[in-house]
Amino acid sequence: MLAPALTTIRLGLHVLGAAVWVGGQLVLVGLLPSARRMQAEGPRALARAFARMAWPAYAVLVATGIWNITALHPSQQGTAWKAVLGVKLAVVLVAGVASFAHTRATARAWVAIWGSVAGLGSVAALFMGILLAGP
Ligand code: HEM
Repeated sequence: MLAPALTTIRLGLHVLGAAVWVGGQLVLVGLLPSARRMQAEGPRALARAFARMAWPAYAVLVATGIWNITALHPSQQGTAWKAVLGVKLAVVLVAGVASFAHTRATARAWVAIWGSVAGLGSVAALFMGILLAGP
């Protein structure tokens, strides 16, 4: 059976946001060595260009995430579902804050630490999203 049109739009936009925010971070890490070889300023320019796409994607995730919650009526969901949602929201917030701190950090160690927290948190949020979507 096919999903209803509105559900397709809601989940399609949410997954598109996740593809850019999470997938973009992973791809960026893979591109960095080549960018560094091309030009000393390459990684910085690449990161700035990615940020211009990633933050709108984060906003889409939050907006469609709220839409997801209203569509799924949390009052009708079980305790485990609500617990995973709570943890996911905390992880999304941590990933967002870490991402911001990553762009502001100057010391190499902090750039790496905040970048790792942002990446791991975003991947964890993605898996928790699959959990919430159910069978
Ligand atoms: C880093 C940010 C986020 C990522 C990577 C992410 C990823 C995902 C993914 C991949 C799904 C599964 C979609 C599917 O297969 O049907 C999902 C579902 C869901 N997400 Fe997110 N999400 C994020 C942020 C949020 C936020 C901020 C909220 C709430 C405000 C939220 C609430 C939900 C809910 C309730 C579902 C279940 C939707 C359904 O089954 O209809 N997500 N998420």
